[in-house]
Amino acid sequence: MIPITKPSLDNSDYKHIKKVLKSKILTDGYFQQKTEILLKKSIKSKFVALTHSCTAALEISAILINLKRNDEVIMPSYGFVSVANAVVLRGAKPIFADINPFTLNISYDDIQKKITKRTKAIYVIHYAGNSCEIEKISRLAKKNKIYLVEDSAHAFLAKSKNRFLGTIGDIGVFSFHETKNLVAGQGGCISINNTSLLKRANSILDKGTDRKKFIKNFKNKIIKSNNKKFYSWVDIGSEYRASELASALLYSQILKAKNIQKKRKYLWNKFYKCILDLKTEKFFLIKPLAKSTSAYHLFVLIFKNSKLSHKFKSKMQKSNIAATFHYVPLHKSKMGKKFSNSKLPVTENIYDRIVRLPLFPDMTKKEANKIMKNIKEFNYE
Ligand SMILES: Cc1ncc(COP(=O)(O)O)c(C=O)c1O
Repeated sequence: MIPITKPSLDNSDYKHIKKVLKSKILTDGYFQQKTEILLKKSIKSKFVALTHSCTAALEISAILINLKRNDEVIMPSYGFVSVANAVVLRGAKPIFADINPFTLNISYDDIQKKITKRTKAIYVIHYAGNSCEIEKISRLAKKNKIYLVEDSAHAFLAKSKNRFLGTIGDIGVFSFHETKNLVAGQGGCISINNTSLLKRANSILDKGTDRKKFIKNFKNKIIKSNNKKFYSWVDIGSEYRASELASALLYSQILKAKNIQKKRKYLWNKFYKCILDLKTEKFFLIKPLAKSTSAYHLFVLIFKNSKLSHKFKSKMQKSNIAATFHYVPLHKSKMGKKFSNSKLPVTENIYDRIVRLPLFPDMTKKEANKIMKNIKEFNYE
C-alpha cells in the first residue's frame, strides 16, 4: 500500500538522536534551546516554545488569552478536534463557521456574521498548508478587539504576502506530528506575536511554575540541593514542553526543510499537471489564494458528488493507494452537537466529496507514476 504520508528520515536524524542519548540529558537540553532558536529564525517569530504537540500548543493558547465560561470562539467546523477541545477545556463555547468552497478554509463572511459581544477569539486553520484570508481576518479581529489564533499545523513555512503563516495573528501553533511536513515524532510549537501575551507563556509551559527563571542554561538544569532558590506554583499550566529526543529530531528535520519542501512541491505540481491534462470537470483542486505560498501539505480532490468520491477512493484503495477522506465536520459530531445546532451549507455539502491522495517527499517515481496512472484510468462516469 502506498501510504497517505510517510516521514522523511535518514542518517542525519539518527545521528542527532544518538547525540541526545549519549549526553544523557533528556529534557530541557541543548536541542530544545537550539531548535527553538532555529524555529524562531525560520518563521521570523518574536517567541517560539517547543511543545509535545500542536494540541498542547492550542491548549496553551486558550489559557494565554484567558478563555472562560460564556466566551465564544469562532472556528471552522471543517477542522481538527484539538481546536475545539482547547476551547471547551476552558469552559468556553465553540461557534462553528462555514468554509470557502474553493480553499476549504474558514469563510470570512461567515466569521463576520458570527461575531457577537461575547466573541473572544477566532481560531483559523490554514488547511492543507494554504493560507486562509488571514490579512482580512486579522483586520476584522483587530477592529472588534478579538484575539486571532492561527492553527498552522499544516502550514509550516507557508506564507501570505511574504509573511509566515502563524506569525500574523496574536498566536500561531504548529504540528510536527509524524504525519506533518517536518516530524518530531510527536511535537509542535507555539509562536507568540502579541507581546502582551508573553509574560505567562513559560509558566504555563512548565506546569504553572516559574521554573524557567531558575534554568536559564541547560547545563545548569540540575538544581543543586544547596541552592537557596526554589521554583514554585505561580499560574495554571501543565507539562507542555517537548522532550529532548523530539527536539533533536526536529532540529535535524529543520536543517533539511528546504529540500523536503522542494520535493513536496515537485510532487504536488506533478499531480497537478497530470490532472490538468485530464481536462475533467468531475472534480477540482483547492485553489490557493493569490500572493500566498503553500506548504504543499495535502493533495486534495473535491468531487462533483459523494458517490463519485466514494467510488474513486475505493478504486484507489483496491489498487493499494491509501486515498482517504478527511475531517468529519465538528458541528455534526457527537460532541459538537452539544454546543451547536448550526447549519453550515458549504461544509455539509462538501466534506463527503473530499479525497486526499498520498503525498510525501520520499515517494518513488514508480509510486508517483502508479498514482497518476490510476487517476487517469478511473472511470469518472
Ligand atoms: C489542523 C490541525 N490542528 C491541530 C492538529 C493536532 O496536531 P498534533 O497531532 O501535533 O497535536 C492537527 C492534526 O492533524 C491538525 O490537522
